[in-house]
Amino acid sequence: MSERTRIAPVPLRVDHAFEGAGTRTLADDARDGLTKPFKDLPPKHFYDSRGAALFEQICELPEYYPTRTERAILEQVADEIIAQTGAGELVELGSGSATKTRLLLDAMARAGTLERFVPVDVTESAVRASAALLIEEYPGLVVHALIGDFERHLDRVPAACARRLVAFLGGTIGNFAPSARRRLLSTLRTLLEDEDHLLLGTDLVKDSATLEAAYDDAAGITAQFNLNILHVLNRELGANFDTDQFEHVAIFDETNEWIEMRLRARKAQTVRLAAIDLTVEFAAGEEMRTEISAKFTRERLEADLAASGLELVGWYTDEQSRFALSLARPA
Ligand code: AVJ
Repeated sequence: MSERTRIAPVPLRVDHAFEGAGTRTLADDARDGLTKPFKDLPPKHFYDSRGAALFEQICELPEYYPTRTERAILEQVADEIIAQTGAGELVELGSGSATKTRLLLDAMARAGTLERFVPVDVTESAVRASAALLIEEYPGLVVHALIGDFERHLDRVPAACARRLVAFLGGTIGNFAPSARRRLLSTLRTLLEDEDHLLLGTDLVKDSATLEAAYDDAAGITAQFNLNILHVLNRELGANFDTDQFEHVAIFDETNEWIEMRLRARKAQTVRLAAIDLTVEFAAGEEMRTEISAKFTRERLEADLAASGLELVGWYTDEQSRFALSLARPA
């Protein structure tokens, strides 16, 4: 036989970056965050299965415009982005709703460049479920998933197999405080060769009424989402938070240009976190921060990118300038 047998790449490979099991840094974060004068908890702990389901509901709310706006922008510009970048590999951080992933994979398939999808996500079950569908839908596509935390495990992303597009969508970059944001962007920069690109979704600064409504919807879903972090602490750390005794707060901080979500104690109370042997006092009306969600201007984003060795080469927004997709490359 003259023709050599070609060994097809395995269509699905799943790597694990977590050493131990599920709890990650929740215990450390709770101990740090609940023992300081202005208590806070990092927003990544919202997302157990109930929290992820509540977030999916948030994305459908009339007040919560970011998800649908970003999707609409991407529908408009995906082909242009793929033409400009020539990307054949998509690395996606927090791949969650594969709707947006598909818009990019479709554009890559149309351009004839599509080779590999590398989702980086903490939730193995969600990654496996969406990977199975994608392999069916895109003949020849290789999915090489990394189960890990994109704040800690990006060094485990496999070497690129084609021109790479790293996508970090949904505005999640806004959940990082300015210094951590630049650190994360610098780490993302290390995933890129000269010809590769970063596609970043960011919510934009706008009037505070629109912003505050998006984080305090009339149906109370965001309030449930915020309170869910207390359910997570109760379950994972044997805590005894009474969720009825905390109230959802969402305010736009005009100085920092970010939305801040907090939980306000309705009365003075003592909470015990048995698994970490911690007792925490809340004063009546005391507020604990659970999330910041930064809102951007083009200028500020360019400054953040520049500080991380990246240069803005594309800026795509909706007619009302509510949300932006930016394309950046190594400076
Ligand atoms: C998932 C980070 C994009 O900050 O808008 C939604 C999370 N919090 N409603 C955001 C969230 C409250 C969301 N991101």
